[in-house]
Amino acid sequence: MLRPRPLIERLPKYYPPEEGRAGKLRLDFNENTVGCPAGIVSFLRRTLRPEWFSLYPEYGRARRILARYFGVAPEEMLITNGVDDAIKLICDVFVEPGDVLVTPTPTFAIYQFFHAVAGGRTAVVRYDYDAGLRLDVGKMRAVLGRRPRWMALANPNNPTGTLIPKSDLRALLLAAPDTLVLVDEAYFDFSGQTILPWIRRYPNLVVSRTFSKAFGLAGLRLGFLFANARLAGWLRRAHAVYAVNSVAAACAVEAIRHDKEVRQYARQVRANREAFCRTLTEMGLAYAPSAANFVLVRVGARGPEIARRLRAQGILVRDWSHDRRLRGYLRVTVGTEAQMRRLARAWKPLLPVMEPGKGRAAWMDLIRHSPPAVWV
Ligand SMILES: Cc1ncc(COP(=O)(O)O)c(C=O)c1O
Repeated sequence: MLRPRPLIERLPKYYPPEEGRAGKLRLDFNENTVGCPAGIVSFLRRTLRPEWFSLYPEYGRARRILARYFGVAPEEMLITNGVDDAIKLICDVFVEPGDVLVTPTPTFAIYQFFHAVAGGRTAVVRYDYDAGLRLDVGKMRAVLGRRPRWMALANPNNPTGTLIPKSDLRALLLAAPDTLVLVDEAYFDFSGQTILPWIRRYPNLVVSRTFSKAFGLAGLRLGFLFANARLAGWLRRAHAVYAVNSVAAACAVEAIRHDKEVRQYARQVRANREAFCRTLTEMGLAYAPSAANFVLVRVGARGPEIARRLRAQGILVRDWSHDRRLRGYLRVTVGTEAQMRRLARAWKPLLPVMEPGKGRAAWMDLIRHSPPAVWV
């Protein structure tokens, strides 16, 4: 019988939602909750051409225009099929079986996923729950002693929403000159903090961005990788030649014309996030300090039931109980004022089954369940 590589047989299955999200208030996957700027859809209606279906895509013009938008040279940028594709590409180009990835925990699972597909092992360093979920740079540096092949830092991080300060990023880049450091800025539009210009200063730095979040184009699959021209050249060499389809490429160029609207949406989300956090504080619920478009909230042991009861009212939030370190935590995407009012109406009656807990104390259960560093 035909069998895959043994490590594929051992790989845990990942189940993305296949259906059932339509028509609901989707506060579960950190997407833009009102959709992409209407101008992108009308652009498509006006200009969609049969050639976009029948001919292979050409990227030259899109690459030039988008590179100018991001303030880099075209040779310093790759357009990818979402950041997921960019992460896989990094693994394709750099990871040999047995190589080590260093990443904090909890974080976006896809780094470890593609690294495992390539046969690598992952060293995880847990966020310092005692210090308000600050990344412990000392611990990260200690693992660097094992000469990892690459390091993945989501900034802001998913699912915590926390931001790594630039001074810590600089320290890590300097401490690991032979390690590729991916700083994934998928939520940059909400945090406003970027180190993209540093690709010219640090030869080991790769930065990623996506149009899946603030731009509202998750279904089109548009991601971007940035690195110095030499590193980007290696990445390009192994990239699927037509990874991004013609409709997505045309929409990427159109999307940046609506940049103002996107920034306006991000501003609203930031204000609504702060209001949501104030309400959580009033309710006595603990949450992680977020710089993104979502908040990780501790609701206690009945988290899965709370998520189910919200779902029954047409509101989807992400229950993190599948991760034993995050049992009792819900990740809630922040939307418009009206959407947050709707959430509040459904949320308040559930308060009696939620467990209050403040700041430091609330993170303690995570510490107990979380080993300091784990080799997978
Ligand atoms: C940190 C982070 N990076 C990347 C992605 C995925 O981006 P894309 O849709 O461009 O593949 C996500 C999606 O949730 C994310 O949270």
